Amino acid sequence: MTTPSSLETTRDAYDAIAVLYAETFPTAMDDHPVDRSLIAGFAEMVRTDGAGPVADLGCGHGRMTAYLASLGVTASGVDLSPTMIELARRDNPDLRFEVGSMTALDIADGTLAGVLSWYSVIHTPPEELPVIFAEFGRVLAPGGYLLVGFFATDADSPHPAEPFDHKVSLAYRLSTDHVADLVRKAGLEEVARLRREPGGNERRFQQGRLLARRPTEP
Ligand SMILES: C[S@@+](CC[C@H](N)C(=O)[O-])C[C@H]1O[C@@H](n2cnc3c(N)ncnc32)[C@H](O)[C@@H]1O
Repeated sequence: MTTPSSLETTRDAYDAIAVLYAETFPTAMDDHPVDRSLIAGFAEMVRTDGAGPVADLGCGHGRMTAYLASLGVTASGVDLSPTMIELARRDNPDLRFEVGSMTALDIADGTLAGVLSWYSVIHTPPEELPVIFAEFGRVLAPGGYLLVGFFATDADSPHPAEPFDHKVSLAYRLSTDHVADLVRKAGLEEVARLRREPGGNERRFQQGRLLARRPTEP
């Protein structure tokens, strides 16, 4: 008997929970104005730099994709889970959603003005993260922006990644320095980083956000 890969485990877990997830998180960070303003800033930077397409990678049922679209960005979504994509298409018939994996994106090199990864790398085994960040770097156009949202390790933790028992499937908290390192190794420049305290229905853990940009000059 073969062991399922982490991608298969994550896909099956989100297929099973998709409807409940969509009911639990119907909208984009309604109770977190700090996050909303950060995402609005990301959208503004993308628009200012020419308003090219933005991909919401690991989009789930598309709540953040819809939020980006409401901010005047040309947004589409990709997710591993076919059931999540069905829900995203049902709820957002005007937007494009495809089943796919961030480990091997069906997106041409240098074509995106922005990539949003909102809690979509949390289930990726730490040793597989460089492949995904390399994909983020590959698909961004020069000057394009990446915004990553993740569960942060405690500020004094010596570990780059720490596993925890997420409700859907095994997940990892990441240190902001580690995310910055992954971004740098993918050829991107850090623009900003943020840690905020948990709130609303987040029971534990600080939340990390990192904004990066693909340099215009190689
Ligand atoms: C915690 S949910 C977040 C969904 C969405 N970003 C949101 O904020 O509502 C994580 C999502 O990432 C997706 N995901 C995890 N690994 C992925 C991969 N390698 N490629 C594409 N999607 C992935 C899962 O299927 C799931 O829908």
